[in-house]
Amino acid sequence: MQRVRKAVLPVAGLGTRFLPATKAMPKEMLTVVDRPLIQYAVEECLAAGIEEFVFVTGRNKSALEDHFDAAYELEATLQQRGKARELQQTQDATIKPGNAIFTRQQRPLGLGHAVWCARDWVGREPFAVLLPDELTIDTPSCTGQLVAAHERTGGNVVAVMDVPRAQTSSYGIAAVKDEKDGLAAVTGLVEKPKPEAAPSTLAIIGRYVLTPEVFDHLDRHETGAGGEIQLTDAMAKMIGQQPFHALRYGGQRYDCGSRIGFLEANVAVALHREDTKADTRALLGRLMKG
Ligand code: UTP
Repeated sequence: MQRVRKAVLPVAGLGTRFLPATKAMPKEMLTVVDRPLIQYAVEECLAAGIEEFVFVTGRNKSALEDHFDAAYELEATLQQRGKARELQQTQDATIKPGNAIFTRQQRPLGLGHAVWCARDWVGREPFAVLLPDELTIDTPSCTGQLVAAHERTGGNVVAVMDVPRAQTSSYGIAAVKDEKDGLAAVTGLVEKPKPEAAPSTLAIIGRYVLTPEVFDHLDRHETGAGGEIQLTDAMAKMIGQQPFHALRYGGQRYDCGSRIGFLEANVAVALHREDTKADTRALLGRLMKG
């Protein structure tokens, strides 16, 4: 079996829920405590042993490319000023030379289309997909858990979580059977079903390990919910053709594509980190009193 070596990071969405912040800056550069969302996604991949990245970008996304590049002048200045910790933090945010590819989606035709744009860079091997506006925190990482499940099952694996039934129309929803130790066989996938039509309340949370056959289905450019080319529809076509599982994710997860989810992520991460924990508690206490 081939090892999962590559990740596709679709970052070409318009981020309309975060306007005007996303007018000139990509949503994935929004910062949770002290690092942009995209860096959390890259670090999640590195923790899972994935070191090659394909970023599918759109307009106004050059800040993403710069973020993972070496910053010669900044690094030299930090060195001169003896700021070793800051220098390290800056250097930690680079990706190894040659390990990051940036390709443009050109038109936001949907998540399936964005993933399809990465097909020639991925080639015929299994790969991970991460939607960086979903922040997950766990040990091992969510993607690491999917990679391990892929190694056991040999096929496609998506991370799922239970959501309130009223919210099914915001997600891809999985129907499953034979759940054992959090891993279940997928029997159906539907994108953004109305609550009354949803086959379950298990929502796909933006983390996938997929086999390259998904590109054969995406090649057809069929549109689905919202008139977009949906990744969920292409994945649904693989059910029954090859192993397809859903992994119930039990770690922390924040929907940073929404304002409240993003705020929650900032507070939760600040409360979790040793260096910000105490100050954040005190701050929240003061604010709640006021
Ligand atoms: P969203 O559904 O969150 O859309 O996309 P969006 O445009 O980013 O944000 P809103 O809803 O307008 O506020 C989910 C993921 O799929 C990517 C987005 O970048 C995000 O990571 N995406 C979506 C693309 O790369 N291309 C698309 O055509 C659509």
